[in-house]
Amino acid sequence: MSNGPDLDLSFNWLPFTPNRDFRREPKILARAKGMFYYDPLGRPIIDGSSGLFAVAAGHGREEITQAVGRQLDELDFAPSFYRGNPPAFLVAEKLAGILPAGLDRVFLVNSGSEAVDTAIKMALLYHRVCGEAQRTLFVSRERAYHGVNFGGLGLSGIVNNRRHFASQLPNVPLLRHTWLAENRFTRGLPQHGGELADDLLRIIATHGAENIAAVFVEPIAGSNSTGR
Ligand SMILES: Cc1ncc(COP(=O)(O)O)c(C=O)c1O
Repeated sequence: MSNGPDLDLSFNWLPFTPNRDFRREPKILARAKGMFYYDPLGRPIIDGSSGLFAVAAGHGREEITQAVGRQLDELDFAPSFYRGNPPAFLVAEKLAGILPAGLDRVFLVNSGSEAVDTAIKMALLYHRVCGEAQRTLFVSRERAYHGVNFGGLGLSGIVNNRRHFASQLPNVPLLRHTWLAENRFTRGLPQHGGELADDLLRIIATHGAENIAAVFVEPIAGSNSTGR
């Protein structure tokens, strides 16, 4: 794939990427429309994962471009400490209407990584305020990915994340992962692995339910990487 004209690739490091390999064989996405990316030579590439699951409505949707433009004209940025703005309240109300009953308070952040770290902090604070400050254990799952900040890395079940960075959250027991070769190509409910839904009981038996602050699991495992 062409690197595009006049691009010096030495300054910008890509995350989760062997950068020397990338520079040897750069894969540049120059533009996107609908469900396709286009390389600098204009060749289409199917976007089979909606960006990184973030462009589910498709690329370059005119109505989205216009809505973003209108908002930039109206109010491009506003601080969120001691100040509110109409779209933030509107989106929170809309989300509360979609989410299951009881999940009706929204705390807006900038990324999944920030959401995970915020959830960790909220869980710790909640238990402390409720007089259960001993609840400091976070349970995660083997192979899990929970973002790039220290909290998310602490919950990670990916070996290279744990090897280098996981020490920031002490003692994170891991549920067994749910990647079973025999479940590949399953339609509907898989035949195998039902017992993995009960794996939390194994961890409770070892650590005590009263010490657990929260359990983090991806409902659908996204990365499922061994990280090797
Ligand atoms: C389960 C899970 N947690 C956290 C994240 C991190 O989100 P972000 O890349 O927006 O920081 C991801 C991203 O893929 C994810 O799948």
